[in-house]
Amino acid sequence: SSTTIGQAKAATPPRAAITFKNGMMKKADNQLLVIFGASGDLTKRKLLPSLFELYVRNLLPEKFRVLGASRTAFTDEEFREEQRKAILDSPEAKPYDPEQVGRFLQLVHYLSFDSTNEAEYGKLKERIEQLQQQNGLDDRIIYYLATPPVMYESVPVSLQKQGLNKPRTREGWRRIIVEKPFGSDLETARRLNGLLRGIFAEREIYRIDHYLGKETVQNILVLRFSNGIFEPLWNRNYIDRVEIRATETLGVGNRGKYYDGAGAMRDMVQNHLMQLMAFAAMEAPAVFEPEPMRDEIVKVFRSLRPYTAQRMDRDIVRAQYRGYREEKDVSPDSTTETFVAMKFYIDNWRWGGVPFLLYTGKKLDRKESEIVIRFKSTPQRLFAGQCSGSSCNKLTIRIQPDESVSLGFGLKMPGAGFRVKQVSMDFRYDSLSHNYLPDAYERLLLDAILGDSTLYARSDALEASWKIIDPVLRHWAEHPSRGLRFYTPGSQGPEEALALERPDDSLLCEEN
Ligand code: BG6
Repeated sequence: SSTTIGQAKAATPPRAAITFKNGMMKKADNQLLVIFGASGDLTKRKLLPSLFELYVRNLLPEKFRVLGASRTAFTDEEFREEQRKAILDSPEAKPYDPEQVGRFLQLVHYLSFDSTNEAEYGKLKERIEQLQQQNGLDDRIIYYLATPPVMYESVPVSLQKQGLNKPRTREGWRRIIVEKPFGSDLETARRLNGLLRGIFAEREIYRIDHYLGKETVQNILVLRFSNGIFEPLWNRNYIDRVEIRATETLGVGNRGKYYDGAGAMRDMVQNHLMQLMAFAAMEAPAVFEPEPMRDEIVKVFRSLRPYTAQRMDRDIVRAQYRGYREEKDVSPDSTTETFVAMKFYIDNWRWGGVPFLLYTGKKLDRKESEIVIRFKSTPQRLFAGQCSGSSCNKLTIRIQPDESVSLGFGLKMPGAGFRVKQVSMDFRYDSLSHNYLPDAYERLLLDAILGDSTLYARSDALEASWKIIDPVLRHWAEHPSRGLRFYTPGSQGPEEALALERPDDSLLCEEN
């Protein structure tokens, strides 16, 4: 129909490009995207629908091809058919024009190949060269590892053996996108970093954390660094505490096998939540470019106060939802945590003594992600109904759903006397006339296509975050049941988590 999104957008065609501060545009090079593990869930749920959105918005390079590679035996046509269904039936389904989906899928090809078998990489090389020749592509390739993590080492090694890790021409390049989990502790993350960096240059490695692709997460930076009013207050003198929450209503579903080995700490805290904390806490970079920006993130992680055994018991609450042990592929005596609440301290001049409380869990009463900055209260209570205690004013950055930013403050109730009511000033993303919020993968894929790694994790940041988390994981492995709580599905999690919010008297003079 004439009202499909696809047709409406086709009329305004900005090609894939980044606009810099000086107004210069950088255009995307023609290129090939090779997806390993292409018959899997991620490709259907996220990658192809996101690429289709980019196509609809005319943001893909002028010459662009996708090669899906995995073991399932599909022809190009069969693979396209699978993806067509996935795009048209996706939960975020929009009134897509099926013909437009068909045109997009002509850019998509498939190679049925066993990525665990080195001998098959010759076949991959041939297919890549054939696609490049047929479509006038220079030797520019993004490899996307959408495979199980066990393949993160073997695929790059096999690519290197075929010489596929280096471009054949001067204008060519390589990039590799690695999905999480990136390692399962400091040692494995280091080993993987070491291996990848022996095969690709650091600037070619894109470690994805889809939270950084969320529009509302990026907005934390704009809110903080494009407005003069927040910065003077954004420190330990005015902020009482910061809460970062990412809760979910669903359980582990079909991912029991992965999840039971990972747990909420590896699945959510070490990456997504710590990245959110870094965005809320970092200093402004000297310029908004990948390296200066990522330098500031590393500094936050390096300033985190290490967890001593005493702090682990006091400042971290881990719990499991009742019924988790009966989930598919979960061990019946599993001690894996599905909920974590923990108190971080960033020991630097800006944040010394301000707790950062992080919460995440599955099967809770609501799905929401948000950052709440709680400001200190007035020293005096003049009015009835005026709030007291540690935090009255709060700035809430709602990441999802109901994406918004709101500032809470006290206001006089109309009428006689002076009675205070807490109200809020709200901005909601859906009030924007152009309120399209791109999916995180859409943004991150486009950035990789353009060669912008600002929103991808750098190896030093990753290692610095593991360094903090590692001792906790070891402590838990040594004492699997100690302190493990249980909570009822659909609840707010274990009550003990609330205790973390109480002010801590021993703050700065702790004997670490
Ligand atoms: C993923 C985790 O990285 O993030 C999942 O592996 C989790 O367990 C998901 O459900 C949450 O992402 P979002 O975007 O729905 O908040």
